[in-house]
Amino acid sequence: MKATKIRDDIYWVGAIDWSVRNFHGYETGRGSTYNAYLILDEKITLIDATKKTFSDEILSRISSIIDPAKIDYIVCNHLEADHSGSLDIIAQKCPNATIFVSQPNGLKNIAKFCGEHTYQGVKAGDSINIGKRTLKFVPVPMLHWPDSMVTYCPEEKILFSNDGFGQHLATNERFDDEVDYAVLMHEAKKYYANILMLYGRQAQTALKTVSTLDIDMILTGHGISWRKHIKDILDLYAKWSNFEADEHKAVVVFDSMWNSTEIMAKTITEAFQAKGICAKFFDLKTNHYSDIMTEVLDSKYIAVGSPTLNNGMMQNVAAFLCYLKGLVPKKNDRQALAFGSYGWGGQSIALVQKELEEAGLNIFHDMIRIANQPTQEELDNIYTSIIEKL
Ligand code: FEO
Repeated sequence: MKATKIRDDIYWVGAIDWSVRNFHGYETGRGSTYNAYLILDEKITLIDATKKTFSDEILSRISSIIDPAKIDYIVCNHLEADHSGSLDIIAQKCPNATIFVSQPNGLKNIAKFCGEHTYQGVKAGDSINIGKRTLKFVPVPMLHWPDSMVTYCPEEKILFSNDGFGQHLATNERFDDEVDYAVLMHEAKKYYANILMLYGRQAQTALKTVSTLDIDMILTGHGISWRKHIKDILDLYAKWSNFEADEHKAVVVFDSMWNSTEIMAKTITEAFQAKGICAKFFDLKTNHYSDIMTEVLDSKYIAVGSPTLNNGMMQNVAAFLCYLKGLVPKKNDRQALAFGSYGWGGQSIALVQKELEEAGLNIFHDMIRIANQPTQEELDNIYTSIIEKL
């Protein structure tokens, strides 16, 4: 397999994972890539690596340019196994290389990922000279792990951003001006929502630092890199990291056993629409929660419904709420509603509301509980009551 030239003496040597559809629970319908970069300078430098299962692919791409044994430096911006999984195999091929990781969080854990080797910890402001070029290290803790950092090359005006600004998108193209813009932006949003949504405060800190850098290219760790639409993606990260809600967007999420909760969901959706709020309708039997979180990222209203099953909520709804609670920043202005039907007992609706409250959402309407099938009068009451509250 061949390397892709990015610029003179800078190559993409990563891997394309066309088939991955589950990335620790996030449904990656368009696959992904694990991006790594090779810089040919006085010190030959590899920036990041791939999943272990792509060790042969990255080594093959490196070998299309140089003998891997000639690598002097390896920069490991982030230890998660999608970037570091192949490092131990690569390190065996270049025994004289020094591996640079963040200090303290990268340095204290790297041996668990890469075994015995020569490591050097780097902190904010540290840099190394690799010949005609300099590499400056910028910690970005929690984007996406405590060890995460980005690497900036001022001579090239390139930011190697690792997880930041990435997308799970498998393509042979490497840059934002080579792919469909709408698909790219959708996948960038889905990636932020499902990987980084919780870390908005840390993202804002990182953005402040990045905004001081003169950048011609952002070479990402996943998917497409940025050279034409850099301002667009930085502006979107500023908005997403602030968890800004669109007052004209809502999501209605539910599961249903015998259609009663589904009819309630349709009625709630129509009430939102009647107030000019675009409501997206998500049946959890046919929609993955990672797609729903993409809409949650900028929706002001979140309605969640479950019938009562075995004294609790349906399992799909419980899984969605667990995921939501993990990703949503605790301080937020989102407005929520719990609803559902029941045959007897009816515990699920209060349980859904409790989860929404624990996620930090604000309840804008009393929970809606309907015994058995809703009558037309009950549906009309739901419709009217929600409109009054919006
Ligand atoms: Fe792409 Fe946090 O790893």
